[in-house]
Amino acid sequence: MKETIAVYPGSFDPFTFGHLNIIERSSKIFDKIIVSIAHNTSKNTVFSIDERVEIISEIFKESENIKVDRFEGLLVDYIRKIGTNTVLRGMRTVSDFEYELQMANANKSIDPEIETIFMVTDSRFSYISSSLIKEIITLGGSAGHLVPEIVETKLKEKLQTK
Ligand code: COA
Repeated sequence: MKETIAVYPGSFDPFTFGHLNIIERSSKIFDKIIVSIAHNTSKNTVFSIDERVEIISEIFKESENIKVDRFEGLLVDYIRKIGTNTVLRGMRTVSDFEYELQMANANKSIDPEIETIFMVTDSRFSYISSSLIKEIITLGGSAGHLVPEIVETKLKEKLQTK
C-alpha cells in the first residue's frame, strides 16, 4: 500500500506545544509527517530558517515517522515535489477558520489535487500563538508550559537582554 504522507507547513517562529499536539496526533493517522518550515521573507522572524530547522529537528530526533524540512516559494509546488497531495493544518479557534479556508481554497485553485486536512488543536493549547510566547519571554516571563525546553532556552538567549 502507498505510504500516506502529510506536510505540516508553517513559520514555527517559534515552535510551540500547540504545534507539537497536532504533529503527535496526526503522526498516528499518517505514515509520515513532514514538518515544513516556510522560508518566508516577508515575515520578520526571531529565528533564522537554519535555527528553526535545527531546533525542530532536535525535538523530533527520536521520531522515525516525523521529518523536518524547509521550503521556499509556493506550498503546492513543494508538496508535489515531496510526492504527496496532503497539507495538514491545525485549527485552534473559530478565528483561524477564515484564514485557513482562504489558504486551502487558494492552494486548491492552483492545484485541484491538493487536499487540506484540518485537525483541531487540543483546547489546552487553543490560546497559544508564537507572537504571544515571544511577548511573554521578552517581558521576562516563563513559557515552559507553552513550548519545549529547547525553544524556551533559545528564545531567552534571543529576547531577554541581560
Ligand atoms: N498551536 C499553536 N499555534 C499555532 C497553531 C497551533 N496548532 N497553529 C498555528 N498557530 C499559530 C502560529 O504560532 C502563528 O502565530 P503568530 O501569528 O503569532 O506567529 C500563527 O498561528 C500562524 O502561523 P503558521 O501556522 O505558522 O502559519 P503562517 O501563516 O505563518 O504560515 C504558510 C502559513 C507558511 C503555510 C503559508 O503562508 C504558505 O503556504 N506559504 C508559502 C507561499 C504560498 O504558497 N502562498 C500561497 C498560500 S495560499
